Amino acid sequence: MSHTHARPPLPVASERTPLKARKVSFSWEDTPLHWVPGDPFAGHTINVLHLLLPAGERWFVHVYRQVLPYITDARLREDVIGFIGQEAMHSQAHDEVLPHLRELGLDPTPYTAQVDWLFEKLLGDRTLPPGRARRWWLMERVAIIAAIEHYTAFLGDWVLNAEELDRRGADPTMLDLLRWHGAEEVEHRSVAFELFLHVDGGYRRRARTWATAFTALVFLWQRGARFFMENDPTLPAGRASFKDFYLSGQQGVLPATGDMLKSIPRYLSRSYHPSQEGSTAQAVAYLAGSPAARAAATAEEGV
Ligand SMILES: [Fe+2]
Ligand SMILES: [Fe+2]
Repeated sequence: MSHTHARPPLPVASERTPLKARKVSFSWEDTPLHWVPGDPFAGHTINVLHLLLPAGERWFVHVYRQVLPYITDARLREDVIGFIGQEAMHSQAHDEVLPHLRELGLDPTPYTAQVDWLFEKLLGDRTLPPGRARRWWLMERVAIIAAIEHYTAFLGDWVLNAEELDRRGADPTMLDLLRWHGAEEVEHRSVAFELFLHVDGGYRRRARTWATAFTALVFLWQRGARFFMENDPTLPAGRASFKDFYLSGQQGVLPATGDMLKSIPRYLSRSYHPSQEGSTAQAVAYLAGSPAARAAATAEEGV
């Protein structure tokens, strides 16, 4: 096992919080197809989350259940179990948006079928014999998840601070879904990386799996945005281009390309620790006021 970290980077202590899944539910009947008014491209680019996350986060849960026996630290184990609970809930919440999109005339099945294949077959359990090969593939996937979680935390932090979406009058239910999810991503942003450090932590693996995850995310995202724009029944000549993405980033309705590029060397830095990014206090404050999370808390208290 190659441990190239002489001393693993230490988390920022104040950023740690016990993780629990908040059982939320959203009512989609009033959410329009173009939920960022007048900007279908921005809305559809964000809608790609609803295509990728149900299968992607189910896959996280599937991989993490297999890695539990390798965890020898009680607190990390607790964090991973909390993480599994949160991701399972995220996956379900995004999945519930899809029937609404179908009702609005946009059937995402052709795209989600490909995403399901990617996570279940390409990234699924291979018929490897017990031993080194099986362990290698498990560690590889743990490292891929750590890289993806760098981006889910980045996006979570972005959406919590994306005031331009409020100024444009974006749909409040969709904003609450994105911010509830984004806040939990910020809240649990250290878990995947700490798990990776605990079970492997090799720098070459971190860099290699970052490249895989980043390439896959860019590929899937641009295909997803194009899929939505081309199949939106209200946009006869719908298109998506990198230029649109760049311009929307400049306006603050999507993440800025420059900020995304700057996040790359941070993840690849040997002193990286996710707790250095984003704010747990901001995430927890959002969750305390989120309509969906509050409704969930009230329902739980009532039981
Ligand atoms: Fe999530
Ligand atoms: Fe996450």
